Order: sequence, then structure tokens, then C-alpha cells
Amino acid sequence: MELLKERILREASIINQDVLKLDALLNHQVDPQLTLEMGKEFARLYAETPITKVITVESSGIPAAFTTAMALNVPLVFARRKKTLIADPDSYSERVPSFTKGIVTDIMVSRQFLTPDDTVLFIDDIIANGDAARGLIKIIERSGAKLAGLGIVVEKSFQAGARTIREQGIRVESLVKIASLEGGQIRFEQ
Ligand code: G4P
Ligand code: NA
Ligand code: NA
Repeated sequence: MELLKERILREASIINQDVLKLDALLNHQVDPQLTLEMGKEFARLYAETPITKVITVESSGIPAAFTTAMALNVPLVFARRKKTLIADPDSYSERVPSFTKGIVTDIMVSRQFLTPDDTVLFIDDIIANGDAARGLIKIIERSGAKLAGLGIVVEKSFQAGARTIREQGIRVESLVKIASLEGGQIRFEQ
């Protein structure tokens, strides 16, 4: 998505060779028009698949997941994060480490909102090592729902997350792939 590359070049900043600050576009402020375009693009990429729900993890995945759900005219479910999870027979949960925050959280989805009748499209803002993504994929598998694939706004392809998920045979579509942040430069994959 060329428009998104331009915006990243103008508005993102490099924290170090692994981390890109995207507060202006994804993690603190969002541009409604740009986010609408993201949703339309994900809907276009998955137009051939009958999707019943869009799913993401709170919080930064929600805006792009919302516009995708809007474009597909289906509900959006967001997995919730809990600091400590009390075992709950009515929900699925997974423990996931966070790459940027250096903490472990539990993500959970109520059984009510994810069933074997669903085919879900998983949207997320950024994929790095893919720990959060793998956690939600496990939840989707346990629920019996089908996973149409992933839609990622920014894939950092120099980290293994998206690649390992593709190697599992899961479709992953990214709007932008960042090949490297070395030398203080954002280098996109072609
Ligand atoms: P993931 O790839 O499945 O997201 O898991 P990973 O453990 O690799 O990343 C965990 C968190 O770190 C995610 O946010 C992810 O968006 C964020 N992250 C990873 N790399 C970068 C980066 O270069 N820049 C920024 N800004 N964030 C990065 P989260 O914990 O899910 O939190 P939230 O933003 O949804 O609240
Ligand atoms: Na994030
Ligand atoms: Na996220």
C-alpha cells in the first residue's frame, strides 16, 4: 500500500534497529481516512473467502480491524488482555509475552463470540516475533472456528513472526513489509 509507505516515511521514527515508533499512525493516534483505506484493502485481499467475523487483540489492532469488519459487513471481536486471568470455563485464554513491553499477559476470548460456525479474518497492527498472533491463532484453533488468514498493517519481515505463521500454511497478507531498520533507515521489501 503505497500511501501507507509514504505516511510511515513521514511520520514514523526509528527507536533502534528492531523497533519502529508508530504512535502517529497506529499506537497512539489514528487517521480515520487512512484506517478506512486499510480496511478496504484487507477486505479486497480476502474478497474470495466467506468471512463471518473479524478478530484482533486489544488495543492497537482495533482501528484497522474495525474498518475491515465494516468493509466486510461482519462483526468485530477483540481478544481482551488480562494481567492475571482467573480460570473461566466460558472463555479461551492463552499466555503471551510482549516483545516491546517485556511483560507477559493473558489474552482471552469468550466462547460466546467464537464458534465452529465462524470463519475469521485476524487483523493486527504490527507483527514482530508473532507471539501475540500465535496466542490468538491457538485460541481460534481450540474454538473450532476456521481461520481465513491474517491481515497485518506493518510486517517487520526481518523478524520471524509472519514467516513462521506462513510456514504453518496460514495465509498472511501485509499492507507494508519492512525489511530492515538498520543504519537509521526504513527499508521496505518490494
Ligand atoms: P506480535 O508480533 O504477535 O505482535 O507479537 P510480538 O510479541 O512480536 O509483539 C508484541 C507487541 O509489540 C505488539 O503490541 C506489537 O504490536 C508490538 N511491537 C512489536 N514490534 C514493534 C515495533 O517495531 N513498533 C511498535 N510500535 N510496536 C511493536 P501489543 O503488545 O499487542 O500491544 P498493543 O499495541 O496492541 O496495545
Ligand atoms: Na502494538
Ligand atoms: Na497489536
